[in-house]
Amino acid sequence: MTERRISFSGRFGFVLAAAGSAVGLGNIWRFPYLAAKDGGGIFLLVYLVLALTFGFTLLTAEVAIGRKTHQGPLTAYDHLKKGKFSKILGVLACVVPFLILPYYCDIGGWVLKYFVAFLTGHGMEAAEDGYFTGFITGEVEPIIYMIIFLAIIAVIIYIGVQKGIELSSRILMPILLVLIIGVAVFSMFISHTDESGVTTTGFDGLKVLFIPNFDGMTFQKFIQVVVDAMGQLFFSLSIAMGIMIAYGSYVKKEANLVKSINQIEIFDTAVAFLAGTMIIPAVYVFQGSEGMQASGPSLMFVSLPKVFAEMGWIGNIVGTVFFAMVLFAAITSAISILEAVVTSLIDKFNMSRKKATISESLVGMVLALLVCFGYNILYFELRLPNMSETQNGQILDVMDYVSNSVLMPIVAIMTCILIGWILTPKTVIDECQLNGEKLGRRGLFTIMIKFVAPVFLFLLFLQSSGIFRMLGISYFG
Ligand code: PHE
Repeated sequence: MTERRISFSGRFGFVLAAAGSAVGLGNIWRFPYLAAKDGGGIFLLVYLVLALTFGFTLLTAEVAIGRKTHQGPLTAYDHLKKGKFSKILGVLACVVPFLILPYYCDIGGWVLKYFVAFLTGHGMEAAEDGYFTGFITGEVEPIIYMIIFLAIIAVIIYIGVQKGIELSSRILMPILLVLIIGVAVFSMFISHTDESGVTTTGFDGLKVLFIPNFDGMTFQKFIQVVVDAMGQLFFSLSIAMGIMIAYGSYVKKEANLVKSINQIEIFDTAVAFLAGTMIIPAVYVFQGSEGMQASGPSLMFVSLPKVFAEMGWIGNIVGTVFFAMVLFAAITSAISILEAVVTSLIDKFNMSRKKATISESLVGMVLALLVCFGYNILYFELRLPNMSETQNGQILDVMDYVSNSVLMPIVAIMTCILIGWILTPKTVIDECQLNGEKLGRRGLFTIMIKFVAPVFLFLLFLQSSGIFRMLGISYFG
């Protein structure tokens, strides 16, 4: 353990890699939908406030734990404070990315498929009814695309921290930013006249996104907005899944953590807002308010291709650019998921990077295959505890439920307890101020990590796991 751990070449490389992890499918397919559903500007405001308080607190804690211990998530907590609590936390924090990797690769494969479809001029077919279901229930194609996607990220992780993760983020993230700004600006200026002669423009859609809509807003509904925003924030910042610890462990001691954390947050939030600016006007212009009811896969793989098809010939180009951007976002997120597990194997079992990458990729592939089969030979319909009567889930949803709705809040709560109570908030604050930097929101950090965050996270857990629903408490939605 005497040799120095490999590191990102500089602060900028770390910020881009961490932002690459944070900016992913969540920003693109979930944030705009929630914003439209939860009263536009009201949601945006709540999200911003939570980002500056909750997001800031947990992101700071995780990056600092990573850099202080120079360990991956499996062993980092135990390095901070030996004991059972830390060991369990380490295992849980590692199980989350382990479970997310397979289905994230499946979805990455879907994105790749759509990118190829639009690139080769078959975008119009993608807009036809039944195209998406036909594709994911297929027995061969989804598997091939998943394997290609997984192979891409495995190669990047195999190459290593500087030449793999950092270099790919340095290339992909700036391109992503340019593409998303391009599509967002385009989206603002589109307009469409329907059969009854009514013209809707992108700017009308923007109003839906940004102007607070108090129609039907009750206290109960507001609580729901807060819960939605909080769940989204955690997923979006890649916290409570070991990732920021893994990346933090590659940051040099002389780097300014405070500045980096602020930049990661700004980057992630800006991309989420840009995604809203890109998607809401486009969907609103062509499909009106009903079009915006779709979320997740159906927004991205069913509604948007229809929107692109409505645009005429230019739709194929816009679609290609759009799916290229989503693909880049998915790749930089997926590598962080794989890295969190790989670095843990390296630290715990002294494995070589090559061996760790190959073994975890193979295991991930087997599980990803299972997820693919969940749509054909292993198809079942299971109503998960957090689902409504009309919904049902397949293998992908089960894995998503366990990792995101159950384990993530638990990991976040345990992190707060470890830093706030078993250790002291000073552990993290000192690490951030190692080179004489000033952590501006010190007081806020302390209060949040000790009191506010654990309590709210517990409520989030009761809600997202479906326990409230099972107890018949509909207060939270
Ligand atoms: N933060 C990413 C997003 O917003 C998603 C992600 C999830 C990344 C899990 C890494 C791990 O989509």
